[in-house]
Amino acid sequence: MTEAQARHIVLAARPQGKPQLTDFRLEDTAIPTPRAGQVLLRVQYLSLDPYMRGRMDDRKSYAKPVPLGGVMDGEAVATVIASHHPGYAEGDIVLAQTGWRTHALSERADLRKLDPAVAPVTTGLGVLGMPGFTAYGGLRVIGKPAPGETVVVAAASGPVGSLVGQLAKLAGARAVGIAGGPEKCAYVQDELRFDAAIDHRDAAFAAQLTAACLDGIDVYFENVGGAIWQAVLPLLNTFARVPVSGLIAQYNGVGTGDGTDRLPATMREILSKSLTVRGFINTEFAAEHYPAFLREVGAGIADGRIRYREDFVDGLEKAPAAFLGMLEGRNFGKLIVRMDT
Ligand SMILES: NC(=O)c1ccc[n+]([C@@H]2O[C@H](COP(=O)([O-])OP(=O)(O)OC[C@H]3O[C@@H](n4cnc5c(N)ncnc54)[C@H](OP(=O)(O)O)[C@@H]3O)[C@@H](O)[C@H]2O)c1
Repeated sequence: MTEAQARHIVLAARPQGKPQLTDFRLEDTAIPTPRAGQVLLRVQYLSLDPYMRGRMDDRKSYAKPVPLGGVMDGEAVATVIASHHPGYAEGDIVLAQTGWRTHALSERADLRKLDPAVAPVTTGLGVLGMPGFTAYGGLRVIGKPAPGETVVVAAASGPVGSLVGQLAKLAGARAVGIAGGPEKCAYVQDELRFDAAIDHRDAAFAAQLTAACLDGIDVYFENVGGAIWQAVLPLLNTFARVPVSGLIAQYNGVGTGDGTDRLPATMREILSKSLTVRGFINTEFAAEHYPAFLREVGAGIADGRIRYREDFVDGLEKAPAAFLGMLEGRNFGKLIVRMDT
């Protein structure tokens, strides 16, 4: 890339089921020029997140799909390299919805400034950002774990699940994590200090989950759906809470799925055990809980009570392959693109 050029990645085709590399296209473009009221941002770190898979489909949802030929949505840590906005100076480091780009314009007055002295700036994309707040808000508002209760979460080594389990422990509950493969499970149990970690790829997964939850499950933080939900369902206690955060196992689903419709059984359990099952989008809790989230999780990082892991890939051109790998579990921790500009 020459100095005078920017690059971005657009949605080249809508995936049918599992996305392919050919669904993305890397394009060269001119570096934009900021007008009055705008800042020019150079992206340092681009976040890759499961929700982006949903934006690739032309389906009604809480957010608009990315149009064909449009730049992929995404949040980034970026440096202000030119400012015509009174709120920002050159050199400021901010969180911004840049999309999958090397350079972006913004005229927002509410970009969150990041101070590397408080925490590494990349935490703004993971443990101290949208995924972390998803864990915090879902647990605080819906899960409400009490001391001695059992909290189960899948995708437990990722930015949402890892904080769910750690916050559950800090609230005095037992934390059981579900993750893919022995290495992730060892990390969840040994490093994140969950009480147990169960490998959902093991043939004996359901039996192992049952053995780890002898008193049943009081909070199941739903990140995955599919086969994991089926193993969790019979273990839910009366009055269990189920924050429904994500359903990554079905994000690539087309048509009516695999044909095993568990919805009637699910609804029956919801009724007969007075379960609270509530879907949510983390922004719903922001006005009330974001300042406390930053304070409490920031303090936990600073004194070591909260740990996190980041998985870096280098260069914007690696973003599509890294994103597809994340959907298959090849990332290990918060997946972040380190830009080479
Ligand atoms: N509601 C909201 O506002 C909100 C906001 C952010 C995220 N979310 C949701 O939270 C969930 C976790 O997000 P994240 O950013 O922390 O992702 P992440 O853990 O970094 O990455 C996704 C992980 O999901 C697991 N996974 C994928 N397919 C699976 C399958 N079929 N069965 C079991 N596990 C599977 C993989 O981990 P393993 O290898 O360990 O299985 C993979 O590493 C996602 O569902 C996401 O959509 C919701």
